Amino acid sequence: MQDSDPTKTIAERLAALQGSLRWNPRREEILHDLRELIATVDESCLDALRGQYAERMQKASAASRYKYLDVVFHTLQKLLLARELGLHANPPCRVLDIGTGGGHLPFVCRIYGHQAVGIDVKDAFYDGLAACLGVQRTVVRVEAQTPLPDMGGRFDLITACDIAFNEKREGKTRGLYWSLEDWQFFLNDLAANQLRTPGTIYLKLNKEARGRLLGLDRRAYSREALALAARNGATVSRWRGTIRFTFAARREIR
Ligand SMILES: C[S@@+](CC[C@H](N)C(=O)[O-])C[C@H]1O[C@@H](n2cnc3c(N)ncnc32)[C@H](O)[C@@H]1O
Repeated sequence: MQDSDPTKTIAERLAALQGSLRWNPRREEILHDLRELIATVDESCLDALRGQYAERMQKASAASRYKYLDVVFHTLQKLLLARELGLHANPPCRVLDIGTGGGHLPFVCRIYGHQAVGIDVKDAFYDGLAACLGVQRTVVRVEAQTPLPDMGGRFDLITACDIAFNEKREGKTRGLYWSLEDWQFFLNDLAANQLRTPGTIYLKLNKEARGRLLGLDRRAYSREALALAARNGATVSRWRGTIRFTFAARREIR
C-alpha cells in the first residue's frame, strides 16, 4: 500500500487510495466504511491545523508525527486493524487505546458501535487532530513499573499501536528502552486490572534505536517484549512487531 501524504486534501487522498485495496476481497465494504467515517471529519479544522504546522512539517521527516494529518490513510490503516481484530463483526464492546495519538482507532471504533477510551500524554498537535475527528483524548501517561489508573471499568480489548511509551527519557539521553521486567509489569497490570475476560491485548511495537553501523541507523523491535509474549502464548509477528494475547481467564505473564 502507498505511504501517507499529509500535504494533500481529503478528496485527493480518497481518490489516490481507492485502488490500494485491489487484493482485498472486502474492498467495497472497507471503502464504504472509510468514506462514511471521512465524511464526518471537520475538514476546515484539519486545513487550519495543516496551516498551523506547515512550517514545522516542511522541516520534519516523513516519519514524523505530521504524517497523521493524512487522516484518510491512517483511518484506513485502523479500519484494516479493526477488521483483523474482529471489531467490524463483534457486538459493542469497550476498547482502551493506549498512546492513541490523534485518536484514529477510537474514531474507527465509533462506526462499529464500540466505546473507546484513547489515552495519551498532553500534546497540542494530537489534541488538534483528535478535535478534527471528533474524538476525545484522555490524558494518562504510561510509565514503567506504574499501574494505570481506573478508567471507568474494564475493557474487552486493549490496543497500543506504534508504541512510543517504552522509551525512557532520562534528561537529554535518548535510546533507553523498557526492560523485560518493565514489559512484564505493564502486561500483568493490564491483565490484572484493566482487561475483562475473555479479552484481547494487541500491541504493535515501534522499532527501537540500536546505534549506528557503517554510517546507518540500526533499528529493531524489542527482543524482550517479543520473547516474553511468545513464551506466554501470544501470537507474535517478529516481522511486523505485533503481539496478540487472548485471555480466556485471568493469568499471570511470567
Ligand atoms: C507513534 S504515535 C502512535 C499513535 C497511534 N497509536 C497510532 O497508531 O496512530 C505514539 C503515541 O504515543 C504517545 N506516547 C508517547 N509516550 C507516551 C506515554 N508515556 N504515555 C502515553 N502515551 C505516550 C505519543 O504522544 C503518541 O501519540
